[in-house]
Amino acid sequence: MTAKTVVALDGPAGSGKSTIARHLSQRLQFEYLDSGAIYRTLTYFGLQYLGATCQGREEEIADWFSRNPDQMKITYVDHTQLMWLKGKDISQHIRSPEVTREVRFVSDSPACREIVNQKMRDLADRYEVVIDGRDIGTKVFPQTRYKFYLDAKPEIRATRRAKEMNIPLQGDAFNRLYKDLLERDASDMARKIAPLCQAEDAHLIDTSDLTIDEVVEKISTHLN
Ligand code: DC
Repeated sequence: MTAKTVVALDGPAGSGKSTIARHLSQRLQFEYLDSGAIYRTLTYFGLQYLGATCQGREEEIADWFSRNPDQMKITYVDHTQLMWLKGKDISQHIRSPEVTREVRFVSDSPACREIVNQKMRDLADRYEVVIDGRDIGTKVFPQTRYKFYLDAKPEIRATRRAKEMNIPLQGDAFNRLYKDLLERDASDMARKIAPLCQAEDAHLIDTSDLTIDEVVEKISTHLN
């Protein structure tokens, strides 16, 4: 089989990765592989079937997915990724605040990371993909020639998240979101395995003052 193309987009929360990955995949006619959604699916499973927290249950979660590989499915509709668990579409459920709060236990676990990485490699064997994540260019597909690291000022990233979640841009809810975002950055960057960092050969794009089209254009220029 000829090797398929992998475009890796890494960066912190709110840097624009998922929006850019969606637009870019449409332009390139690739699939958009959302790696965070796979971590969220493992987390959702832990919360749904194993207990009120995933902390301490990471091995059990990884073990279940390795014994039941067909119970997690990923499909694409118009380049949008749908996540299926035990035959149910859980694409919306994995965005809940509980999953967002708990996902760090799963993403800190080497056993869970191995499950997610294997899933991504299987998909990249079948499809041309744009993948967004934290360690795609550094760890999962270090051999790809197409690596981008998206970043933006923290206040801009928090503002983008707040708009997505319909949270007013001032007040307690926004301050909490801002604090959570900084904490997530710190935990993603401090993680012992596969921390968030820019690959040496990745193109850095600061999206703070760029529109979606401008970022997509910049990436397309590099790809060409
Ligand atoms: O992008 P997201 O918010 O859906 O990601 C959910 C969590 O998964 C996030 O806290 C970081 C983690 N993650 C990771 O460790 N490695 C990836 N490749 C993608 C996400």
